[in-house]
Amino acid sequence: MTEKKRNWKPQTTLVHAGTLRSGFGETSEAMYLTQGYVYDSAEAAEARFKGDEPGFIYSRYANPTVDMFEKRMCALEGAEDARATASGMAAVTAAILCSLKAGDHIVAARALFGSCRWVVETLAPRYGIEATLVDGTRIENWEKAIRPNTKLFFLESPTNPTLEVIDIAAVAKLANQAGARLVVDNVFATPLQQRPLELGAHVVVYSATKHIDGQGRCLGGVILSDKKWIDENLHDYFRHTGPSLSPFNAWTLLKGLETLPVRVRQQAESSARIADFLADHSAVGRVIYPGRADHPQADVIKRQMKGGSTLICFDLKGGKKSAFAFSNALDVILISNNLGDAKSLITHPATTTHKNLTDEARAELGIDPGTLRLSVGLEDVDDLIEDIDAALKAAV
Ligand SMILES: Cc1ncc(COP(=O)(O)O)c(C=O)c1O
Repeated sequence: MTEKKRNWKPQTTLVHAGTLRSGFGETSEAMYLTQGYVYDSAEAAEARFKGDEPGFIYSRYANPTVDMFEKRMCALEGAEDARATASGMAAVTAAILCSLKAGDHIVAARALFGSCRWVVETLAPRYGIEATLVDGTRIENWEKAIRPNTKLFFLESPTNPTLEVIDIAAVAKLANQAGARLVVDNVFATPLQQRPLELGAHVVVYSATKHIDGQGRCLGGVILSDKKWIDENLHDYFRHTGPSLSPFNAWTLLKGLETLPVRVRQQAESSARIADFLADHSAVGRVIYPGRADHPQADVIKRQMKGGSTLICFDLKGGKKSAFAFSNALDVILISNNLGDAKSLITHPATTTHKNLTDEARAELGIDPGTLRLSVGLEDVDDLIEDIDAALKAAV
């Protein structure tokens, strides 16, 4: 079921692309809450299983509402094909494992979300797949880590939580030279602010739980790539291991996509103002914001990203005690380990999302006891700054 290619801008794509309208002519996308599908005859069932006739077979494989979500994501990302998953971690795990076997080698950036790092560093080696973790901002490290059996490169950019930005085009070039596939976790950038496939990446993954839902409701994920890779690697893995997205969640995520550009634009605009406010405050040490001229990879950001981040990373000079006092004093901004929500959320990575790393690994990633991650929501930015200002007074 291929869709007519249109030259729509992202905002139009996100409202209309992929819609499969039923005979009832509904305006909003229909939610097909069904596990299975019926056939007109035994011959029709046989033909569908053989692939001689198009159509749905079982919702672990594909479902019309999930199909709409996948097609809309393909249109936005410029990808040939996609598979939607039950969570972002299901997407990351499937994208990494589906094409690898014992004896293969992964090179990954060391600055990864905790669960992604566990998949690469702990799970994959159990099955004979070795991994080398590198400081991904230094391109020469990727090259040095390549072995004859390197089959996959993996990175996220901007990284969680310290918002390092990795030069995707440069890493993709090395991956091609090594005959490896580059998988990019594009969650923090969103599909609007960074387009990894155009930069040379081979596979893009999202936790749709974050900005794509955008209102903190349901989990989801998606893997996007070329049709050949999906047919030859992901297709069977996906069907037989069953990380499929539920139709209900796909419907919620389709609704989320409609408003994604408006939300991300507003959240990035507010974030830029909050980052400047924090950088001028005497209680605040380092402020890392992709979008400010003092970001360590500002030159890469200029080339690779289309807009600023919706997240800010900053350190309070008073360490963990100040970080906790600040978080507890906030009124509008909520304490949570999630991100990309309409509600602004503050996270203390050292004791939550990155608590399983050793002290040395956290220090290597620049996660200090006073480091906080702020996911900026859709509240009025003046209220957010007032909230932060008052909480900073309580934290010193
Ligand atoms: C960069 C990154 N990748 C993947 C995930 C996993 O997503 P999910 O919680 O939907 O499984 C997260 C979750 O925070 C994340 O931050």
